[in-house]
Amino acid sequence: MIKKVSVIGAGTMGNGIAHVFAQNNFEVNLVDVNAGQLEKALQTISKNFDRQIAKGTITKDIKKESLANISTFTSIKEGTQDADIVIEVASENIDLKLKIFKELDDAAPVSAILASNTSSISITKIAAVTRRPQHVIGMHFMNPVPVMKLVEIINGYATSKNVTDEIVSLSKKLGKVPCVVNDYPGFIANKILMPMINEAIYSLYEGIAGVEAIDTIMKLGMAHPMGPLQLADFIGLDVCLSILNVLYNGFGNTKYAPCPLLVNMVTAGKLGVKSGEGFYVYTAGNKDLVVSDRFK
Ligand SMILES: NC(=O)c1ccc[n+]([C@@H]2O[C@H](COP(=O)([O-])OP(=O)(O)OC[C@H]3O[C@@H](n4cnc5c(N)ncnc54)[C@H](O)[C@@H]3O)[C@@H](O)[C@H]2O)c1
Repeated sequence: MIKKVSVIGAGTMGNGIAHVFAQNNFEVNLVDVNAGQLEKALQTISKNFDRQIAKGTITKDIKKESLANISTFTSIKEGTQDADIVIEVASENIDLKLKIFKELDDAAPVSAILASNTSSISITKIAAVTRRPQHVIGMHFMNPVPVMKLVEIINGYATSKNVTDEIVSLSKKLGKVPCVVNDYPGFIANKILMPMINEAIYSLYEGIAGVEAIDTIMKLGMAHPMGPLQLADFIGLDVCLSILNVLYNGFGNTKYAPCPLLVNMVTAGKLGVKSGEGFYVYTAGNKDLVVSDRFK
């Protein structure tokens, strides 16, 4: 029975994952190397609970009880020593993740499941640095975690069926909908999403249509809530480029080759929402979508 959850990394996704576990009565140890980031994460979680209170989906008492379920740590060793499951949500960097999993293998109980929220790094590769590859699995939450229903569960080459079943049942306890897939580059979510985004960028690069036309066609024609270029800005163009490279190198197929326009934009520091400009420009206080001058 899983009761104690350690979350490694208190950034965008880590605070959301800690939030949903705490709200569902799990004991959560939130671990980050950066103490300031832990402080910021607790503030974000508190603000997101206030939003749920304002919507009437939870009470003030539930917020209080949920926050009391979260403890913070700056040391992996202290934060994982009695964990039933550890979910690694640190930055998307393979060397960092391999180092963290080696450390987790030494620190967490031998029976603990070690999961990763990685968007694109091979679960099989991560599992191979541990002495318990059958206990290693991908648990890919979507952003924002308290809102998005999907958990993409990724079986590594050696993941045992018991562990998969346990993670399916755990995801359901969080009110999420689990989908189990196998460990190949991009899993399913990004193997399908990223080529669509790349094709939208190619369509712009080839002059077939402009930014607004491409996004409007996909929004109104396919009932997507956001066009692919706006979504790329939201995800981060650097993140899109790095996942496309994982697909391109992993499958050795040129159909995944990143569009030269995407490469140029990342090189020029135009990364989307986080840098203030991508296919659109983002200015504080303005919620209207404004196409970047570069594409007018
Ligand atoms: N942001 C998204 O939309 C999204 C969606 C799905 C999956 N993911 C995946 O989730 C993971 C985290 O992404 P994010 O956007 O939350 O990143 P982020 O940069 O917001 O947060 C990463 C956190 O990891 C911490 N960290 C770095 N090294 C650490 C270590 N050794 N020990 C403990 N903490 C450490 C950092 O201090 C930071 O707080 C990545 O693998 C990413 O691919 C992200």
